[in-house]
Amino acid sequence: MEHIRWEWHSPASQPAAPGARGTARPPAEGTRAGSRTGPGPPRLPGNGVPNYRAGRRHLPAARSQELAISPTAATTADAPAGGHSRVLRVAQVTRETPDAVSIGFEVDAADAATFDYQPGQFLTLRIPSDQTGSVARCYSISSSPFVDSELTVTVKRTPAGYGSNWLCDNIVAGMEIQVLPPGGVFVPKSLDGDFLLCGAGSGITPLLSILKSALAQGTGRIVLLYANRDERSVIFRDELVELAGRSPARLTVLHWLETVQGLPSREQLQGLLSPYAAFEAFTCGPAPFMAVVNEALRGLQVPRDRMHTEVFTSLSGDPFTDVPIPLPAAADAVRTVAVRVQLLGKTHDLAWPVTVPLTDVLLDQGIDAPYSCREGECGTCTAQVVRGRVRMLRDELLDPVDIRDGYILTCQSLPESDGIEDGIEDGIEIVF
Ligand SMILES: Cc1cc2nc3c(=O)[nH]c(=O)nc-3n(C[C@H](O)[C@H](O)[C@H](O)COP(=O)(O)OP(=O)(O)OC[C@H]3O[C@@H](n4cnc5c(N)ncnc54)[C@H](O)[C@@H]3O)c2cc1C
Ligand code: FES
Repeated sequence: MEHIRWEWHSPASQPAAPGARGTARPPAEGTRAGSRTGPGPPRLPGNGVPNYRAGRRHLPAARSQELAISPTAATTADAPAGGHSRVLRVAQVTRETPDAVSIGFEVDAADAATFDYQPGQFLTLRIPSDQTGSVARCYSISSSPFVDSELTVTVKRTPAGYGSNWLCDNIVAGMEIQVLPPGGVFVPKSLDGDFLLCGAGSGITPLLSILKSALAQGTGRIVLLYANRDERSVIFRDELVELAGRSPARLTVLHWLETVQGLPSREQLQGLLSPYAAFEAFTCGPAPFMAVVNEALRGLQVPRDRMHTEVFTSLSGDPFTDVPIPLPAAADAVRTVAVRVQLLGKTHDLAWPVTVPLTDVLLDQGIDAPYSCREGECGTCTAQVVRGRVRMLRDELLDPVDIRDGYILTCQSLPESDGIEDGIEDGIEIVF
């Protein structure tokens, strides 16, 4: 079996021996700023999305030189819809490849807590449109909260896509973009284990954040399998060379180029990945790539709770526009269940109608609940049930093991009222 380990022009090079370490060549001149080691070990998650706040960097409101010399900056934002979104200024735009661009945002001190993020999470951007006013698109954060000072997403052109091409063609430093706070559950529960990261194309973005965070905060090994059409389309090539060069004992990068090796088959991947079957696997990329990687991992007997996937889709709704909340009229006399919600350090005791998803109940009460799609597609609204029972209308996004641990998508959750008393002490309790 053939694969490439930095020997870009040697497609027939020998496969890496199992357990082989990354061997990087020196970074090319002009390489983007690399990572640096952050302080302290990560804390184990408490509830909801894992939180590694110990040792986190706070995002300074850095203003790049590029911004200062960008007089053509145009605003793309209008007033935020509700208190949920923020307007962020683009500090820096980096052309990664002919088809991909990284967008670094400036975050004011006042918004730093709102944009505190975990490796693997994403932002939702509001992109202007002359047809519809705007479209909302999610982009994974490619920076690491532990090593990078700038909150950055990376966008790759989708052929004939609207939002990605708009960003790649129009975004410049100085623009202002309306953005929803970080969301998503494609986040390692701990940064200390061994990671097998499998990405293709733009699927590298959340994986790079996890990779840099685990290198900085963890102690385990990291293997990145990164598939691309050809060498020119490899995003973060120089940064990966530099990272592998700095941590050869911990990081191995395996490149797969379609123009050289063809599309990977299950058998090929099984052979390539078998030394890493005990690692925690995170996969992100086009659907056929994810399918073949998951087949290979299943073939290697990797248990489902160690296989994490992130699906890139375009949101069908627009969470930036006023959100209609279909609450039942009082006259409908819908039964309610008492629910206690812990969110952002506050406790809310509410009556939860059995026909209304929790996110809608919270928004109706003026509570700044996290959400993006409200369709069970993104994971922004994830919380944990610590008491009582809840049922979900859609739950495909969550790992079975997370569901077992009580995690729910609150935009898809209704109370299970059977056997529950109306008193708050006997009701449902949910922690964000
Ligand atoms: C959690 C998550 C993370 C993601 N992370 C990344 C990432 O890190 N990097 C990345 O590149 N992608 C990422 N994506 C994918 C990204 O959100 C988009 O799906 C992708 O960029 C394609 O969007 P697009 O608008 O270019 O293409 P499409 O969604 O295919 O655009 C075509 C659609 O736009 C409509 N359209 C056409 N013209 C207009 C117009 N003028 N106005 C309004 N609508 C119009 C068309 O009707 C059509 O429905 C992620 C997705 C998710 C869910
Ligand atoms: S808001 Fe996207 S899954 Fe709930």
